[in-house]
Amino acid sequence: MTAQAKSPQVKTCEELKTQPEEFRAACEKIVISHAINELYGAQVFDEPAVAFAPTPYAKWLTCRVAMEEYGHHVRFFELGREMGIDADRMIPGKTAKRPLSIFEYPLKTWEEFVAIKLLGDLAEILQVEDLLHCSFHPLRNLARMTMPEERFHAQFGADFSQEMIETSAGKKRLQQAINRLYPSLPAFFGGPKSRNNEIFRKWGIKQRTNEEMREDYIARAQEVTAKLGLILPKLAEAAA
Ligand SMILES: [Fe+2]
Ligand SMILES: [Fe+2]
Repeated sequence: MTAQAKSPQVKTCEELKTQPEEFRAACEKIVISHAINELYGAQVFDEPAVAFAPTPYAKWLTCRVAMEEYGHHVRFFELGREMGIDADRMIPGKTAKRPLSIFEYPLKTWEEFVAIKLLGDLAEILQVEDLLHCSFHPLRNLARMTMPEERFHAQFGADFSQEMIETSAGKKRLQQAINRLYPSLPAFFGGPKSRNNEIFRKWGIKQRTNEEMREDYIARAQEVTAKLGLILPKLAEAAA
């Protein structure tokens, strides 16, 4: 936090170009990672979920969520282009960067999608929250613009979960989906003692350590599932 007080406040992409290489590269890493993950998520989960949605109302809301997730990719991609990042580095498949393991399991059911919005988008909220006071203002502003939509996605997950737990069969299916998906989510926050995270905090780009974020995430995930009378599966030592 002390380091953050000394970090520069960079108001535009033009200004970023005159900043030290370490700071520029760190901002690029974050923008690339968001652009890639938002696009993976939209392609692997949100767009296919429209076909699984059980009612016209659910399809309509799912279309909106898919539109917004593609929109998040587009916004991060456009910011990246303004920063001078090559387009190929922000498109999954064209980059050498490996996707997060959660994207390797194609969506099979509506319950899985609801569980992803409930718990996966909660992880996304924490990531975006950590950028709300970012020293690179275009990224901070983008986080502020994205936040209400991520909250809507988590609320979507909570609302459809509420509907599902009304029958014991529905509740069981949702619990099974959580059991399958949740264990891969805490890894979303990166490894402990990460050099990247150290650099992000040094420059005031991000505020918290990966461990702090993961701990907070697990506590918040526990809270939302407990409210629904559901439980989180135990995590392997390494992920916890
Ligand atoms: Fe998103
Ligand atoms: Fe989202």
